[in-house]
This record gives sequence, structure tokens and C-alpha cells, in this order.
Amino acid sequence: MHVALLANLKKNAPTWPGISPDHWDDLDSEETIQAISSALQAGGHRVTFLEGDVTLFDNLRKVKPDICFNICEGHFGDGREAQVPAMLEMLRIPYTGSQVLTLALTLDKPMTKRVLAYHGLPTPSFQTFERLDEPLDPDLRFPLFVKPSREGTGMGVSAESIVYDDVQLRSQLRRMFEHYDEPALVERFIEGREVTVGVVGNLISPVARRIPEDEEAPRISRGLHFLPPLEVDMGAYPIEEAGVYTSRIKVEMAHEFHYLCPAPLSEEQLEELNWLAAGTFRITGCLDVARVDFRLDANDGDKPYILEINPLPGLNPHYSDLCIEAAADGWGYEELVNGILDEAIERYQLNDVNRQAIMSLHA
Ligand SMILES: Nc1ncnc2c1ncn2[C@@H]1O[C@H](COP(=O)(O)OP(=O)(O)O)[C@@H](O)[C@H]1O
Ligand SMILES: [Mg+2]
Repeated sequence: MHVALLANLKKNAPTWPGISPDHWDDLDSEETIQAISSALQAGGHRVTFLEGDVTLFDNLRKVKPDICFNICEGHFGDGREAQVPAMLEMLRIPYTGSQVLTLALTLDKPMTKRVLAYHGLPTPSFQTFERLDEPLDPDLRFPLFVKPSREGTGMGVSAESIVYDDVQLRSQLRRMFEHYDEPALVERFIEGREVTVGVVGNLISPVARRIPEDEEAPRISRGLHFLPPLEVDMGAYPIEEAGVYTSRIKVEMAHEFHYLCPAPLSEEQLEELNWLAAGTFRITGCLDVARVDFRLDANDGDKPYILEINPLPGLNPHYSDLCIEAAADGWGYEELVNGILDEAIERYQLNDVNRQAIMSLHA
């Protein structure tokens, strides 16, 4: 098939005077694009890379791909991850991964947490701040964790994100408002291990984006493949990172990633994490692939809390969590990338369409 690889390359991103150095940290490197491209070619596909910016619409109409492998994070606006899928739907071009509603929802951490909480899935209790002087909800107890509402790749996350009193809370909120033009998310700080679960596959449709009733509970994960969880080995990092998966660890130290994969977990813990990952995948309406980030509360018997779901997980072959998990499962990088593509091909029934087209040619 002719696959258009759609991504936002860090080196193509717009820039302006005074732009913060971490502004495009969630965009992709040439190394990643090259690796995905080679993997798709090894899968027997013809690949054309297209930058996911304002040039994309015209380029898609010229290139006319059979399907797109979409990993665009977008540049501007709180729907930035959903913009390319919206364009592809308008053009009626099939693409990998989640659709508009899911990508717009999950970029917004507080909105996602409201949906999780509505469905009874465990996520740390929280409050959003849009002003420095808003009173703290009396139900929230220090220590708390402060982060931007709509960023990724550890942006705005450092050891100072953990705040122990009101003075620290206000100074961290001030920092967030100075750097990010969006509300700040303040959560209960979950002290404990950090585990992430990769999921490849699709639920049996139609999916009502809810937790199924008791008698149909097996539906919650049918069709999904869970990769072995990865635990970030916090003990291997400088003490200054305070046991947090910070921007510095994710970006500056990315090439010296310390992890345990598969994470040392009991069978029971593994089952619970997979169940929660499936529930999150299901209620946020993910397709083909996602990664769910958890913290295990050391002060409550390692009870898992969902921090976020990433429907566009990093695909760097050397250090991205999902790729490491796939390797621990015996999948090569090519299998992972083509596995994601095949999920989309199957959803759109492209093989069947092609087969029918070929058969009609021979008729
Ligand atoms: N409530 C919390 N308690 C403890 N640590 C947290 C909490 N929220 C975030 N963190 C830490 O910050 C990191 C980044 O947060 P996350 O919400 O996953 O954002 P990102 O999109 O940057 O990955 C987490 O991996 C974790 O180490
Ligand atoms: Mg995360």
C-alpha cells in the first residue's frame, strides 16, 4: 500500500523570538521518522513523509495515499492533536490511531480525569487553577503535584512540581502561568512506583465508551493486546529529580533511560493494571494503540492511579516506552509499527476493498 507518514518534525516547527526551549519537546526527531519509514517499507509498503502543518491538505490531495500513519502532535491550539485526523476525515483518507474526539479529550488532562472519575476509574483527586489566588479545595491535602493541563513529554514537570505548602503551591502556579497559557492542574501527589502499560489493538465494535455491565464485562478488553508494563527505574536517576519522571529525564537523559521491563509485578497487579488500561482505552475511545501511565500508591498497598492516557505514544525505536515494551514482548520494531498499521487496515477493511477491486478487475 502507499502509506503517507504524517508527523510534526521538531526541525520543521515554527519559531519566534522568546520561544521557550521546551516548546516543541513533544514533536518528533528525524531518527524516529526514519525508523518508522524503514519499518513500513520492510512491511512491503511505499512510504511518503508529509509534514503535518498547513501544507498538508494540498499535499494529501496530490499524493493520494491509501492510508496515513498519523503521529502528528500538532502545533497550535487545544485541539492540535485532533486537527490532522479532522482533515483526513474531511478528505475521506483512512489513518492509524485515535480520532478527533479522543485526541482532543486526552490532550486535556483535567477533562480526561473528569471522564475517568465519572466511570469510577481511579485517578488522583484534583483541582484546576486559572488564577493565582484561587482558594485550595479543603479536601486536597499536601503534598500536591502541579503540572500544565495540556502538555506532554514532561513539559512543566520537575522536582518543584511537588509542593508541600501553600507558599510552594502559589510559586509553582505562578511558574506554570508564566510558561504555559493554560490552566494548571493540581493533583494529590502519589508517592510510589511509576508504571506504564502499552496497548495495541481494537475493541470489538461498536464501543459505547463506557464500562460494560457485569454480565458483559469481558467485552472490556476483548481485541486488545497488552504489552508487558514498563517501570521507570527512578532509583537510577539523580536524587534531584525527586522520583518524578521529569522533563529533564524524558528529554535531556532520554538516551540513558533506566527502566525495568517487564516491571516486577504480581499476576494480580498485572491483571488489575491491564483491566484499568482497557477501561481507560475504552471510555476515551482509543483506536489501534495507546499507552496508559500509572502511579502505584506506596502508602496504600501499591493501589494504582491513572495519571493519563497517551493515544499518540512516542515511537522512537531506542528509548520510547512503547517500543521497549514491545521488545520485551518479543516484537521487533517493525512488527510494532506494522502491527499498528494493520489494526487500522483491518478497521477500514482496506484489504477486503483491495481484494474486491482486484477481483472485479479479473471478472
Ligand atoms: N499526581 C501525581 N503524583 C505523583 N507524580 C506525578 C503526578 N502527576 C504526574 N506525576 C509525575 O509527572 C510525570 C509526568 O506526568 P504526566 O501526567 O504523565 O504528564 P506527561 O504528559 O508529561 O507525561 C509522571 O510520569 C509522574 O512521574
Ligand atoms: Mg505521562
